[in-house]
Amino acid sequence: MYALEINHVTKTYSNNFKALDDVNFTLKEGDFVGLLGVNGAGKTSLISSVAGINSFHGEIKVMGHDVLSDVVNAKRNIGVVPQEIAFDPFLTVMQTLKFQSGIYGVNDNQKWLDELLERMHLQDKAHANTRSLSGGMKRRLMVAQALVHKPSLIILDEPTVGVDVEIRKNIWDFISELHQQGHTILLTTHYLEEVEKLCNRIIMIDKGKIIAQSSKDELINQAGDLPSTLELTTVNGRFVAVLSDLIIGRDGNKYILRLSGHEQIATILNALVSNNVIIENININKPKLEDIFLHYLGR
Ligand SMILES: Nc1ncnc2c1ncn2[C@@H]1O[C@H](COP(=O)(O)OP(=O)(O)OP(=O)(O)O)[C@@H](O)[C@H]1O
Ligand SMILES: [Mg+2]
Repeated sequence: MYALEINHVTKTYSNNFKALDDVNFTLKEGDFVGLLGVNGAGKTSLISSVAGINSFHGEIKVMGHDVLSDVVNAKRNIGVVPQEIAFDPFLTVMQTLKFQSGIYGVNDNQKWLDELLERMHLQDKAHANTRSLSGGMKRRLMVAQALVHKPSLIILDEPTVGVDVEIRKNIWDFISELHQQGHTILLTTHYLEEVEKLCNRIIMIDKGKIIAQSSKDELINQAGDLPSTLELTTVNGRFVAVLSDLIIGRDGNKYILRLSGHEQIATILNALVSNNVIIENININKPKLEDIFLHYLGR
């Protein structure tokens, strides 16, 4: 079964602006997918459509339940951490979580709510009013709020904006744990290193259209000649003239070479060794997700 099916989804806002243009993709149960796109690409428009906040044309199913015709079952299976922060200003942190649980008809989950607050480092704030929370704390409460009913599909729209480094790591660890327990995750974030580490698949959206979707390695292969680099440190910074065209940077005795293919490595090393250049350190850098992303955006 698919955790999420997006079929021919188009979203046109009332000013006639088309934010989503025939979007199609699926998430299998257990996927951890990164949804990448620049500001205004359509990520939040898509997530709002899945969450039932936006009207749209096309079909969206969550765990097999149509979000329009089978709303209750679809909603029960999905937890969304929205990009915009909004809380009832008169409730405390714990009341917010209880109220949210009530929406899903869950009322015996105190242990889970306590655990959520602990994992989001908000246990001291359980009885504080939501207005009194800092920006990062509010963001963490949004994550907890989306998880009160332990949804199968968790969608996070930039969950760690404004969250400090240490707690950001804690949130990623927690989300990874939920993934390991079998939850399906769709994540948007501008922290590409995290996507690179966490996600098994990447979907790229630009101007409301999907422009690529695959594993990172497949995206690299499909992109053709993305630059890998070879960093070489040699004794006294010696080098050989025949390789000088490959050099794209130098830092002291360290040279950075652009590789057009991995088979080139042997040629480079042979040239150095046969000219008695002694190599102190060598490092191969695969293309980063950022390079791949820019490639697909055509920038
Ligand atoms: N209510 C609205 N009315 C008209 N246009 C809208 C509305 N909401 C969003 N848009 C437009 O739709 C496009 C996509 O916006 P969206 O919020 O989905 O982008 P995003 O990918 O989430 O960007 P970001 O990374 O900045 O959050 C933008 O051009 C935006 O201005
Ligand atoms: Mg957005």
